[in-house]
Amino acid sequence: MEARTLELVFPEHTNPLGAAFGGFVLGLMDKVGSYAAARRAKKPVVTVAVGGVEFKVPIRTGDLLEVVARVVRVGRTSLTVEVEVYKERFGKENGRVLATKGELTYVAVNEKGEPVPVDAP
Ligand SMILES: CC(C)(COP(=O)(O)OP(=O)(O)OC[C@H]1O[C@@H](n2cnc3c(N)ncnc32)[C@H](O)[C@@H]1OP(=O)(O)O)[C@@H](O)C(=O)NCCC(=O)NCCS
Repeated sequence: MEARTLELVFPEHTNPLGAAFGGFVLGLMDKVGSYAAARRAKKPVVTVAVGGVEFKVPIRTGDLLEVVARVVRVGRTSLTVEVEVYKERFGKENGRVLATKGELTYVAVNEKGEPVPVDAP
């Protein structure tokens, strides 16, 4: 199961040198990761853990980000989602570059916020 979105980086997402705040990128990863997990579980999910995120390449004002999230593991109540962030700059030839990736884990929950089996009806 997959989810993806595009987001343009604006000055309010960056520091005075024009580099994106890590928290902005992490927020996008968490949001799109949760869409993939909720799609697979067919129920609400909450984030329980964020792992292995590295910011290898700077993301700057004007970059177009594509966030791609794929469910890579389904447990009893939890799901692990691999999230990749590609950056692209209009008019540049080096095209689309993988800027960061990480693995986020979500738990399927009921209306009280308690864990429920992913595949329960
Ligand atoms: C997520 C939450 C509902 C889990 O409740 P819990 O009583 O701790 O649940 P359990 O111990 O039964 O664990 C549920 C599942 O999460 C997994 N899990 C728990 N902690 C984990 C961690 N640190 N990393 C990875 N998986 C984890 C368990 O392995 C289990 O998976 P499984 O059922 O597939 O085997 C609860 O911890 C919670 O509400 N956390 C806050 C969520 C939140 O607000 N997120 C937003 C962050 S601001």
